[in-house]
Amino acid sequence: MTERVPLLLHSLADMRELWLPLLGAAGVRSVTEVGAETGVVTRLLAGWLGERGGGRLVTVDPGAPGVPADELPSGVELDVVRDYSPEALRDLDGTDAWLLDGDHNYHVVTQELSEIERLHGGPEDLFPLVLMNDVAWPSGRRDQYYDPSRLPPEAVRPHTFAAGVRPGLAGVDTRGGFHGKGEFAVALEEGGPRNGVLTAVEEFLATRPHLELSVVTSVFGLGVVIDGRQPWAAGVTGLIAPFAASPFLERLEANRVELYLRVLDLQDTVAAVERERIAVHARLAAVRSAARSESLLAAIGAVQPPWPDGGDPDGADPAAPAVRTERGSHIAGSGGAALTA
Ligand SMILES: C[S@@+](CC[C@H](N)C(=O)[O-])C[C@H]1O[C@@H](n2cnc3c(N)ncnc32)[C@H](O)[C@@H]1O
Repeated sequence: MTERVPLLLHSLADMRELWLPLLGAAGVRSVTEVGAETGVVTRLLAGWLGERGGGRLVTVDPGAPGVPADELPSGVELDVVRDYSPEALRDLDGTDAWLLDGDHNYHVVTQELSEIERLHGGPEDLFPLVLMNDVAWPSGRRDQYYDPSRLPPEAVRPHTFAAGVRPGLAGVDTRGGFHGKGEFAVALEEGGPRNGVLTAVEEFLATRPHLELSVVTSVFGLGVVIDGRQPWAAGVTGLIAPFAASPFLERLEANRVELYLRVLDLQDTVAAVERERIAVHARLAAVRSAARSESLLAAIGAVQPPWPDGGDPDGADPAAPAVRTERGSHIAGSGGAALTA
């Protein structure tokens, strides 16, 4: 049977066939995940480590769901850190691989990469395998903030929780677009220095020639940072190379984003039509209510002949009960009940 997928793929789990083999090729036995959300990747990693005889898994997210003890494969040690990165990383131990998918902005990602480097001994020592999401549109060149008040003010760009973004639009779309529904904010402007996840990685790598970045442009972009000095570097690079910087995958990603935005636009149109329908019904109800007042009915009765039983000749529902006035006129339609949405 075909697996049901959400309308918008967004999880690293949706790209598991791309990156799990990289963990295998790098001989990974311990992983730290930053940004867990539903825990789908936590469970995936726990299962993956379990199939390989066990290992160590750390999950960092203020709301990390973890994995229930009775579902944890034997041999897998799970450490759930319900706290914010990068601060939460400071007291951790190094792990063979890291998955960065928490707060998608220049400041946090830069700090995370620096913290990982420090935990692994500094720039002279081997850097672990680092995978990250959101290196393509929309966060590659535009900061997102889950909670800007937690960050140093100088690290936060002018932003909005309300407006959306669109490919090709450097500013924001105040009437729609792709947005966080109040869950996260986006910078008002795309591009420029110190803005976005990809900018943070590129800048970090610029002074570290031993590190290389491969970008797969799917599901908002998978970034893979490989230390060329690692014994597994060639094997991992060889696995990801066929997918990296692929114009075909870029086209597919642009196409799915465009289609999703059209769905959002259609939903906005339907919502606007519904709001208008409710407003029209409210106005109608007010008119009917006024028409029921004795003086108006009297006035109508004075200028109109009685309508025949069966309804309003102007098109109101003939089946609806009519209101008989003292003068014998009929107001057909709602039968006196106010219309509601
Ligand atoms: C995009 S979701 C993660 C999705 C998940 N990695 C997956 O692929 O299914 C981002 C998560 O990061 C969490 N988050 C936000 N800021 C964070 C921070 N500073 N440190 C750790 N997690 C953070 C959010 O609460 C949210 O659960």
